[in-house]
Amino acid sequence: MRQKIVAGNWKMNKTLEEAKALTFELLRLVDGTTKAKVVLCTPFPYLLPIKELLGDNKQIKVAAQNCSEHESGAYTGEVSAAMLKSMDVPYVILGHSERRQYFGEDGKLLAKKIDKALEHHVTPIFCCGEPLEIREKGTHEELVKQQIEESLFHLSGEVLEHHVVIAYEPVWAIGTGKTATSQQAQDMHAVIRKHIASKYSQTVANSIPILYGGSVGAANAKELFSNPDVDGGLVGGASLKSKDFSEIVKAI
Ligand code: 13P
Repeated sequence: MRQKIVAGNWKMNKTLEEAKALTFELLRLVDGTTKAKVVLCTPFPYLLPIKELLGDNKQIKVAAQNCSEHESGAYTGEVSAAMLKSMDVPYVILGHSERRQYFGEDGKLLAKKIDKALEHHVTPIFCCGEPLEIREKGTHEELVKQQIEESLFHLSGEVLEHHVVIAYEPVWAIGTGKTATSQQAQDMHAVIRKHIASKYSQTVANSIPILYGGSVGAANAKELFSNPDVDGGLVGGASLKSKDFSEIVKAI
């Protein structure tokens, strides 16, 4: 059985007080309702205070939204994987399309970030997904396969099998209210799994949680999560509201 995960990507939202209030609510609404892991991807400054609020909660964990490809040193404003590890942060999102688009992160750079995260035992949630023009051209499967090859295929099967999470997030569905259909999500997740099986093995492919992201909400989560290759979601906007997010968690 693959681990089911529902992750909320808060992006650059909320004050500390608002973030704490949301976490309090989630602890009340989510706790113990499913077997899924719930991951709160908070801005860097909130990782420790939110972690403290969660205490020793086994189900709800925090994640960072990025980390540096460097070990340490003169990189003003950056946060390293070693720092995340030292704070006991178990996950980090890498390769989000907003990082690719606004901060010029490409597959090669992301491979280095993935290595740093893994070196420090922080599990990467690696994002891939095509922009609208690629979907319209019909080359979306090729692009996503290429993104995975560039940033993950240098890893050993053992590492991929046990220490990586993938999130498929079609760029045209992010923050647009336009969700991929359940079929489109399932099709791409199956393509990703097949591609991993062809390079590694079916066992490796079957072990990796693949999350869907892009306008996941309380109304569509159940259908999306019912697909055999969809192991949960990476939720943006709806993760900022306790009621919506808890309903998404319950949908798994
Ligand atoms: P939305 O759920 O707001 O579309 O954002 C998805 C996302 O980017 C999660 O990482």
